[in-house]
Amino acid sequence: MAIGVFDSGVGGLSVHHRLVERFPTADFVYLADQANTPYGGRPGEEIVDLTRAGCERLFAEGCDLVVLACNTASGIALRRLQQTWLPGYRRALGRPVNVLGIIVPTIEAATGLPWEHEAERRGDKVEKLDILAVFSTPATANSRVYEIEIDKRRQDVAVFSQPCPELAGLIEAGAPREDLAAAIAGHVKAITGRIGRSPDRAILGCTHYEIVADLFRAALPPGTPLIHQPQATADALARYFERHPEFATGTGGTRRFLTTGKPGAQSALVEAFWGSPLSFERA
Ligand code: DGL
Repeated sequence: MAIGVFDSGVGGLSVHHRLVERFPTADFVYLADQANTPYGGRPGEEIVDLTRAGCERLFAEGCDLVVLACNTASGIALRRLQQTWLPGYRRALGRPVNVLGIIVPTIEAATGLPWEHEAERRGDKVEKLDILAVFSTPATANSRVYEIEIDKRRQDVAVFSQPCPELAGLIEAGAPREDLAAAIAGHVKAITGRIGRSPDRAILGCTHYEIVADLFRAALPPGTPLIHQPQATADALARYFERHPEFATGTGGTRRFLTTGKPGAQSALVEAFWGSPLSFERA
């Protein structure tokens, strides 16, 4: 089987990069929905429809497992698709397929607790000593998924989200690093002003931002720990394969890159991140 990796664009390559390192013999198909990127300012229904179409495309390419390497798709669409679409689709296909997201592994990494763990509520008396900033698309920030799910597990962590409406689009377009640095510095300043001090830790809650993680590091106080979403996802997938040997990872080590947008090379920004030339086929 092949593992499908889906994002609205190039952001999911940050997760894909780590998955390829972690599962070198697995066959991978990456799909970037660049005809419709960015997702982060779209209404929820559109995000659900586009995510479903991406999954169908990857299943049609022979994938059995799709990783939504996109916070916006994972946060807005995943539960809906798992509950209302996947069971019937699986029956129609006649083979076991599944779709996994990246928010659960990130929350496990941020809380240090397994997903199943929900803390006993201790009222409002718990002091919130650990301030966690989440930089994300507006859709992810509006969903409040990180605030809600972290609060269920760790009442001592205060989560502040900073929507960055222009950032995924700039990264997708391969904008100059000075422009990206200025945008990121503005978002760090805004959230710091809102909190009243610098955050203790941060989640880059949009996979595009990992491509410029060094610019976030430069804008945040030195040494601010970043919760590394690609690593958390790779670790969670390894545990998933142990529990679900039916999704064996394949042995061909093949990699295909598909786009619903313009095929060919990606921006210099993305290729520098990837470390070698990248050529996308038309999906
Ligand atoms: N990379 C995506 C995410 O993690 C989507 C960005 C977008 O399309 O707005 O949210």
